Amino acid sequence: MQGADVDEACEIVGLAFADNPSTLAVAGDRTSALRIMRAGVRIAKFDRPCSCALVASDARRAVGVLNAAEWPGCQMSMREKIPSAFAMIRIMGVALPRMLKLIGARAGHDPRERHWHVGPIGVHPAAQGRGVGKALLNAFLAMADEHRSPAFLETDVDKNVELYEKFGFEVVGEEKILGISNRFMWRAASTRGRIA
Ligand SMILES: CC(C)(COP(=O)(O)OP(=O)(O)OC[C@H]1O[C@@H](n2cnc3c(N)ncnc32)[C@H](O)[C@@H]1OP(=O)(O)O)[C@@H](O)C(=O)NCCC(=O)NCCS
Repeated sequence: MQGADVDEACEIVGLAFADNPSTLAVAGDRTSALRIMRAGVRIAKFDRPCSCALVASDARRAVGVLNAAEWPGCQMSMREKIPSAFAMIRIMGVALPRMLKLIGARAGHDPRERHWHVGPIGVHPAAQGRGVGKALLNAFLAMADEHRSPAFLETDVDKNVELYEKFGFEVVGEEKILGISNRFMWRAASTRGRIA
């Protein structure tokens, strides 16, 4: 992702996650879900120095984005949380306690060993189902395999569990958070790439 892609990437994540079960459980309604994801992903993911984001584009514009961060940087440290706290309170408003509950519960499943933590991955709704998500996963996992690194992600959508299983992830944990079933998925390191 280049600097100029960030606005488009935030817009895609907002649109892709506006109907996501956990985002709706946090935000309360679709309009707030879109706004919270669009603004929150910039601070919580893309603006962070450890963020590694891939953008898929057609001839005219970005259509999909995949973000990943390497453990332990995938979880925000207290040093990072303090400067961004005011912005997060402004964006989240009354949804903040629910967002903190979701983030905290998911963080409890983060494996305490080397891995790339994938997420979010979002494709513009008008471009979904055309292979963009698979192309992003292929590109990212080729890099992870090259470095013999495991990968980890969480999802709350059954259809996505099947998608990730096709890429070698397996469910290693499950927890109901805010009434939504979250699955935690692990993909072992390749033994064929070069050692990082
Ligand atoms: C999940 C997502 C990233 C997949 O990207 P995509 O470009 O739509 O998917 P692709 O065309 O590359 O691959 C299709 C596969 O993804 C799965 N899939 C998940 N959501 C889908 C959707 N809304 N439309 C089509 N396929 C979807 C299907 O299982 C499908 O498998 P198949 O081709 O064997 O039938 C994208 O649909 C999306 O942004 N969804 C909303 C946000 C989201 O759920 N993100 C992931 C959170 S863990």
